[in-house]
Amino acid sequence: MLDGKAVAQQIFDDIATKVGARVAMGKPRPKLATVIVGDDPASALYVRSKQKNARQVGIDSVDHRLPTEASTEQLLELIGTLNRDESVSGILVQQPLPNHIDLVQVVIAVDPVKDVDGFHPYNAGLVAQGLPGGIEPCTPSGIVELLDRGGVRIEGANAVVVGRSNIVGKPTALLLLRRNATVTVCHTRTKDLAGHTRNADILVAAAGQPNLITKDMVKPGAAVVDVSANRADGTQVGDLGPGVEEVAGWLTPNPGGVGPMTRAMLVRNTYEAEVRRRP
Ligand code: GUN
Repeated sequence: MLDGKAVAQQIFDDIATKVGARVAMGKPRPKLATVIVGDDPASALYVRSKQKNARQVGIDSVDHRLPTEASTEQLLELIGTLNRDESVSGILVQQPLPNHIDLVQVVIAVDPVKDVDGFHPYNAGLVAQGLPGGIEPCTPSGIVELLDRGGVRIEGANAVVVGRSNIVGKPTALLLLRRNATVTVCHTRTKDLAGHTRNADILVAAAGQPNLITKDMVKPGAAVVDVSANRADGTQVGDLGPGVEEVAGWLTPNPGGVGPMTRAMLVRNTYEAEVRRRP
């Protein structure tokens, strides 16, 4: 079992100690500013969890809400205010955003120094090129951290990532590549998906499609990471079909696997952004 909840707790404890030490030196607490546009209940739930984890480690959080009909300009104005606010260490604009909002403009508006999601092309570019100083996106870095702490060997492994989003699939592939895995990225137009996944020592399922990865598609002993948070009858399910646990050598529970790791990396990124901005 790749117990994301337990590993995340270790990271929360570590950051709590570091935040406590800074505060004891008279330095301000790091602060996370979250932004939600609209009233998607799932987004509200995720952001609440993120704020709760931030508070638990001594990071302040402020919540900003804009109505569904808010314009791109209004959102950009809010981001500008948060960029200029000295007390704000990190800015998180929860996705998905309403369709009428220009996502590219939003992503590039966040000051890269405060981009604790690691979504700005400046940070994404540094990470893609393997250069130091970039903020790594939370879910991908959480996946790599969980594999490391679970004792999964990444170097030389055949890693197959199913999904190519800018938030998860693409950056996860890049981080695994940087760690010397041999990486294949599969997506909706991949021919013979099973032919690829059966070869995977590390299989990252981030397609957002329940039951996409069936037991027969998993190599015996593989490390299987189930990223997706699909909703089925009010409960969370991932992309794995029944019985995958019988074949896999390592498996992330869902919920309780990648989700807590994403939040742990967000908390760590926020702390580190504060330290970098105000050493
Ligand atoms: N939507 C799904 N995952 C994420 C994430 O990690 N950050 C933000 N901002 N939105 C998301």
